[in-house]
Amino acid sequence: MSVTRAYERLNGQLDGLVRHGESLSRHTSYRIGGPAALFAECASVTDLALVTEVLSEEEIEWVVLGKGTNVLASDDGYPGAIIVLGKEFKRHSVTECKLVAGAGVSLAALVQDAFGKGLTGLEFAVGVPGTFGGALSMNAGTREAWIGSVVEAVTVYQPGSGLVRLRGPEIAWGYRTSGLPRLGVVVEAALALETGDEWRIRSSMEASLRRRKRSQPLSQPNAGSVFKNPEGESAGRLIEAVGLKGERAGGAQFSEVHANFIVNTGGARAADVVELMVMAQQRVREEHGIELEPEIRFLGSFEGA
Ligand code: EPU
Repeated sequence: MSVTRAYERLNGQLDGLVRHGESLSRHTSYRIGGPAALFAECASVTDLALVTEVLSEEEIEWVVLGKGTNVLASDDGYPGAIIVLGKEFKRHSVTECKLVAGAGVSLAALVQDAFGKGLTGLEFAVGVPGTFGGALSMNAGTREAWIGSVVEAVTVYQPGSGLVRLRGPEIAWGYRTSGLPRLGVVVEAALALETGDEWRIRSSMEASLRRRKRSQPLSQPNAGSVFKNPEGESAGRLIEAVGLKGERAGGAQFSEVHANFIVNTGGARAADVVELMVMAQQRVREEHGIELEPEIRFLGSFEGA
């Protein structure tokens, strides 16, 4: 594996940028994370093809990062390459009831556009941060609704073979999983929405936003729910029940607003967040016999994790 050689082979060859040692704290909503050995912004499928080809030849591990809103990046950074999707993946269009968007578009922009065109089906996603590609990859949603249910088709790029179009029902949508990351890099998707009543769409969005503002620590850096809700239970309720709401480790804290959110109160390290997570898992296991499963994704290596 040679990161230097990969950098030299890619530098100047892409429409997007290539960097060495880019700090992941600049690319995660937590504002946490050390340097990525290589960072490549792909502006097009052509860029993506070249980057994945070079990385495969140089035997460098890589991951695609959206807005980093569901990620905990290691303080030691990531030894491989981080790929982000640029320009050509940031387009979207709406024709009748079909919304087609690149994976790099922010979910918020799509929610607003659907609303503006009087389309219903995406209201649940109001206030959900991140990119469209990220939302699809993890089947983002609430307890009642998730993005996979409105997907007509997803186009993925499979390194070495090219673009493949998958129909919505062929995809293994689960609770915060989709099976998509194993199938390729999500580059675009089409959503089948329906014409709705503007007043109803607006009130449903406003109600969701009000609920989020009341129950989630939106003003502090966070990565959303840290743990998945165990079946029939609520991770937030369990963490509060074992007395950890408000507990701190270094700069990280179980939010006073919602115990399943760990916030960065300033200068938190990934190790601080992990310390709190391990604490919650231990106490909830001891006191309730329930195993809390992380919802956030780990990037890089974590001692003991
Ligand atoms: N609760 C507590 N203490 C807390 C927090 C919550 O007792 O500190 C209780 C609440 O009173 C409520 C229950 O736990 O009875 C559930 O809480 P809430 O309604 O806030 O929703 P949640 O189940 O914790 C889920 C998603 C969120 C999504 C919200 C709103 C998961 C793990 N979380 O949260 O998704 O925003 O519903 O729809 O599925 C995310 O995935 O990152 C995320 C934020």
